[in-house]
Amino acid sequence: MRTELTFAPLAGIETELLAVVAADTQTAKGPEAKPQPVLLTSDPAVLAAAAAVLASGEYKAGANETVLLHAPAGLAAKRLLIVGLGKQAKVAVHAMRSAAGTAVRYTKPRGIRELVFALPEAELAAGASARAAVEGAFVGDFDPDTYRSDRKDLSVQSFVLASAAGADRAATEAGFAEGIAIGESQNFTRTLVNEPGNKLTPTVLGQRAAEMAAEVGLKAEVFSTDKLHELKMGAFWSVSQGSVEPPALIVLRYEPEGVTDGPLLGLVGKGITFDTGGISLKPGDNMEKMKYDMAGGAAMIGAMRAIALLKPRVRVIGIVCAAENMPDGKAYKPGDVVTAMSGKTIDVINTDAEGRLVLADGLTYAKQLGCTHLIDAATLTGACVVALGMTNAGAFSNDDETYARFEGALATSGEKFWRLPLGEEYAEQIKSDIGDIKNTGGRWGGASTAAEFLKVFAEETPWIHLDIAGLAWVEENRPYIAKGPSGVAVRSILEWVRSY
Ligand code: BES
Ligand code: MN
Ligand code: ZN
Repeated sequence: MRTELTFAPLAGIETELLAVVAADTQTAKGPEAKPQPVLLTSDPAVLAAAAAVLASGEYKAGANETVLLHAPAGLAAKRLLIVGLGKQAKVAVHAMRSAAGTAVRYTKPRGIRELVFALPEAELAAGASARAAVEGAFVGDFDPDTYRSDRKDLSVQSFVLASAAGADRAATEAGFAEGIAIGESQNFTRTLVNEPGNKLTPTVLGQRAAEMAAEVGLKAEVFSTDKLHELKMGAFWSVSQGSVEPPALIVLRYEPEGVTDGPLLGLVGKGITFDTGGISLKPGDNMEKMKYDMAGGAAMIGAMRAIALLKPRVRVIGIVCAAENMPDGKAYKPGDVVTAMSGKTIDVINTDAEGRLVLADGLTYAKQLGCTHLIDAATLTGACVVALGMTNAGAFSNDDETYARFEGALATSGEKFWRLPLGEEYAEQIKSDIGDIKNTGGRWGGASTAAEFLKVFAEETPWIHLDIAGLAWVEENRPYIAKGPSGVAVRSILEWVRSY
């Protein structure tokens, strides 16, 4: 998708489709209070072209509600699309993401290949809204039908962001450029997550990460079985040993010139390219979804891409622990005791609790490489989905100052995470009779016991754990995003990194 920024007056822009946003300005409540949709532009020709439909009462400017006008009088555009933002009082920068995404997803299936999206003339920060709109456009442009033989590439070819002439130009231009880097990186993650397990093995994930690294100027190393043994990564290896596909330990480094001290941030991702559950085999229903069990790792790879492009002044290491969790004659079994890289012994109760095992060694390795602050992302527990649904992802931290930065990141990224508790009582649940720690903590509090397990390996290092099991895959098509991989956490991790 080509992108462009213009400050030209809307009425004169020649395009297949001009999208403008509208909000509902009705403040009264009750049955008599009819929606009052208003366009967020001062362009008199656009206002005139939309006047009749807005007055009709047929269009309410609800969030992502659209109406299309052909051959709008007085405009050079062939079509005028109005996208709703919902109640005006609630309109925030984040609404630009879904509005631009909705405009793109309206355009795509109709075979229209170009559109102009007009940012609203509203009291919103110019840079942040430009960024959000461009991110939303890229996110909206993604479709998961990679392997359809009749796939027509219906991608939008040209997306033009139109900003009011009076807007802060420098901020708008900067936000626009950031939006491209971030939107493309989020889609890079989604492309990886979308790949089926037979196409994207741990080895292939490593290759894709290394290719990307070469393009954007990151250092990349991809290790396999020998390195796991050399580093004594007994936990990571135990998960991998039941598969004929070798594991991949993917290490990406971002080292900005002239920065040799200060924090070293470690981004650790779960990269299970397929999770059968292993000997503790999962039921067949929905098992095919477990190709997305590498979404945490893919989020780290996408975040590293965005970091390389946006160049924050802080060193970052991305580590992805990629393996396939399979049942086999060589597979690890319930009751096995394995020794993690840190030296801790783990009593394997359930081979389906494999994510925490690979992450345990990933976290230890990050610390060995000198990371001062850690963040991990993983599709770790069904329990987190039970707790928070598909609306919020789970977040945990052993350090309030580090977590405060993450909350700040959420304000920019617009992603929803909800902090869940760690605690001594959860740690009690994963004590083992035979070794140091068990890999499951029983039925209750499963997201917290999993996090408590990881904390044993983060030790005293400030650390955040993101459980994205419920958000990494969008279950239904939405106006602004396709059903399929979401790319969740890329933007928030990036912003967390930029806070240092
Ligand atoms: N990959 C799954 C978690 C998952 C569940 C991700 C649903 C996405 C959607 C993870 O490896 C797993 O199987 N966890 C178990 C842990 C249990 C055995 C303690 C779970 O949540 O059931
Ligand atoms: Mn599992
Ligand atoms: Zn898993």
